[in-house]
Amino acid sequence: MTGATYRQWDGGRKPTVLVSAALNRLGANATKTHPAAARRPRVGLECHMKIFVTGACGYKGSVLVPKLLAVGHQVVAFDDQWFGNYLTPAPGLTVIKGDVREADQIDLSGVDAIIHLASVANDPCGDLDPKLTWEISALATMRLADQAIRQGVGRFIYASSASVYGVKQEDQVTEDLKLEPLSEYNKTKMIAERVLLSYAKELVVQIVRPATVCGFSPRMRLDVSVNMLTMQALTSNRITVFGGDQVRPNIHIDDITDLYIYMLDHPEIVGIYNAGFENISIREIAERIVRIIPAEIVVTPSNDPRSYRLSSKKLLATGFSPKFTVEDGILDVIAAYRDGRLKDNESCYNIKAMKKLSVAA
Ligand SMILES: NC(=O)c1ccc[n+]([C@@H]2O[C@H](COP(=O)([O-])OP(=O)(O)OC[C@H]3O[C@@H](n4cnc5c(N)ncnc54)[C@H](O)[C@@H]3O)[C@@H](O)[C@H]2O)c1
Repeated sequence: MTGATYRQWDGGRKPTVLVSAALNRLGANATKTHPAAARRPRVGLECHMKIFVTGACGYKGSVLVPKLLAVGHQVVAFDDQWFGNYLTPAPGLTVIKGDVREADQIDLSGVDAIIHLASVANDPCGDLDPKLTWEISALATMRLADQAIRQGVGRFIYASSASVYGVKQEDQVTEDLKLEPLSEYNKTKMIAERVLLSYAKELVVQIVRPATVCGFSPRMRLDVSVNMLTMQALTSNRITVFGGDQVRPNIHIDDITDLYIYMLDHPEIVGIYNAGFENISIREIAERIVRIIPAEIVVTPSNDPRSYRLSSKKLLATGFSPKFTVEDGILDVIAAYRDGRLKDNESCYNIKAMKKLSVAA
């Protein structure tokens, strides 16, 4: 292995990708010592990798895993399956029911990259049992990164959240702004990020701070704004908007899952990236829904002050471009409901499902 500019994967159909920038950021001697560098020939657009996805049976994971398989990767889908398992068995897919809190017992042999989605995944769920939230979302992330390094995994893609910023007055929220997380959920994300960055000499760390996701997944979430309001319009012809003026960023599920794959294909893109492309108010989301399904909009007071416009310029400058919109998300939910793929049941609301499962204290 030399320290020279390195060209990945020579035998494929697509253009090769240079990863020297990533290696430079890892330090002058990185090519000699970095486990990621040692495994470089297996990383790239044309190279089929073994990807360990935590939280793989969740809302995002259930869309991401089939995409990873479709481009030829092997996938280990690791999840406690709190909300079930909607992954279809497929060649190249191994599903493991397990707890990331036991990360030091996880076998990562042969794994090229981890996509870490598992967490207690919203504010009310995080508040249900803060100790559990910290153990899963922060402590287990550290243990998993530690295990990754011990077992020679070179890559770690982390699903953080744009909610780490808290309430911001700035017109555009960029990655360099101070983090002022409000809830346990947001705080665990912030700390997990910091922990992962502390491993940046030993792992290629790619952190994504996504906006609120919308659109259909086989493991559906109806506790995220666009999906929730669309379902209200479908089932009761009435949308209840709390506050309504708070501006929040959104991202379509196909864009966020494409982005994780884009990150896999681009190990040179290290560090932290916002990912949200439509900053609109909750009231605007409701108005977009009622243009498609007529429904009454009822506005009630909210105690949630978070309102911010996310800037994803840094990500866009790398060449990634989103392909879907909030309208697409609304239309997906409507179509899935109408053709029977989607039912408005409790498992689609994380807080209801967690209370029922008694996973929290
Ligand atoms: N959906 C969004 O709008 C959104 C926005 C920003 C960030 N995120 C983050 O993206 C990630 C995925 O979100 P999602 O919407 O798919 O959430 P989700 O709740 O649908 O999925 C999370 C998955 O993690 C699993 N899990 C929880 N604790 C676990 C443990 N101890 N061990 C193993 N598996 C465990 C659950 O069973 C679940 O399948 C989360 O980290 C979330 O915080 C989501």
